[in-house]
Amino acid sequence: MNGQRLSALRKQFRAEAARRGIDPRDVDLLLADAVGRPVSFVVAHGELEIDAAPLLAKLERRYAGEPLQYIRGRADFYGREFFVDERVLIPRPETELLVEAALKLAPRGARVIDVGSGSGAIAISIERERPDMRVLAVDVSIAALAVTAANRDRHGAHVHLAASDLLSGVDGRFDLILSNPPYIPAAQIESLQIEVRGHEPLAALTPGAGGIEIIERLFEESRAQLAPGGRLVMEIGFGQEALVRQLAESHGHAVETVIPDLAGIPRTVVSSPHVDQ
Ligand SMILES: C[S@@+](CC[C@H](N)C(=O)[O-])C[C@H]1O[C@@H](n2cnc3c(N)ncnc32)[C@H](O)[C@@H]1O
Repeated sequence: MNGQRLSALRKQFRAEAARRGIDPRDVDLLLADAVGRPVSFVVAHGELEIDAAPLLAKLERRYAGEPLQYIRGRADFYGREFFVDERVLIPRPETELLVEAALKLAPRGARVIDVGSGSGAIAISIERERPDMRVLAVDVSIAALAVTAANRDRHGAHVHLAASDLLSGVDGRFDLILSNPPYIPAAQIESLQIEVRGHEPLAALTPGAGGIEIIERLFEESRAQLAPGGRLVMEIGFGQEALVRQLAESHGHAVETVIPDLAGIPRTVVSSPHVDQ
């Protein structure tokens, strides 16, 4: 092994990252992974020597636009660590709002479904916070479901899994139907950062030209599968609130709340079918 001092590597790679427009903290996190210790250890133990080759290979991936979370194989969500790779969307902080809303709304023993589970971040978080709930996670992507399953096992969560195109493959009624659906209009994909457009699964990003195709289907299809008093809780995209309110109305839902994210963007929509439906 050709050992090099941590302090020298850190200085050299942070400067190179900054030059390429990459956050130098990414270097610190990859160095921390390389020594299996926290970043504070890396900063305090510059005298240690490590083999730079594996780190360099990971940095090359980062320089080429691969998201840090895929390189590290993990992402934080709602206080837990989830395994992620290119089969699933990297869970976003704003989706924690949906989890918060679901936890507040769920009656004891609630039957809950997470539609489009991806990494399983939503389904597993709510079940781990409230093990009284009966949680089903579905995704149309078998590859994504394998990641949901890996994270379920990692967290010892009692979440059932099924492959389903939205609710079509699922029987029964739910107190909560949750979803962070794909909602980016197809034409906008090209304008996204390379990390997103080049690496995250297209089916997790866009439902088609309008961006609201799956949101509309969820308003329509959820009516038959919500228990009395049940709610649909969905994440929506930037600028979609007005259209989503119209879609809710035209598909027999009353919007109860639209919760803004930390940037003030309307993000989480809570609705329920009109009682006369
Ligand atoms: C935006 S990602 C959300 C992933 C995860 N729930 C999260 O919040 O990080 C959307 C997910 O919906 C899934 N999906 C897309 N179309 C679907 C459909 N018609 N039925 C079920 N799942 C679908 C994708 O495979 C993807 O995993």
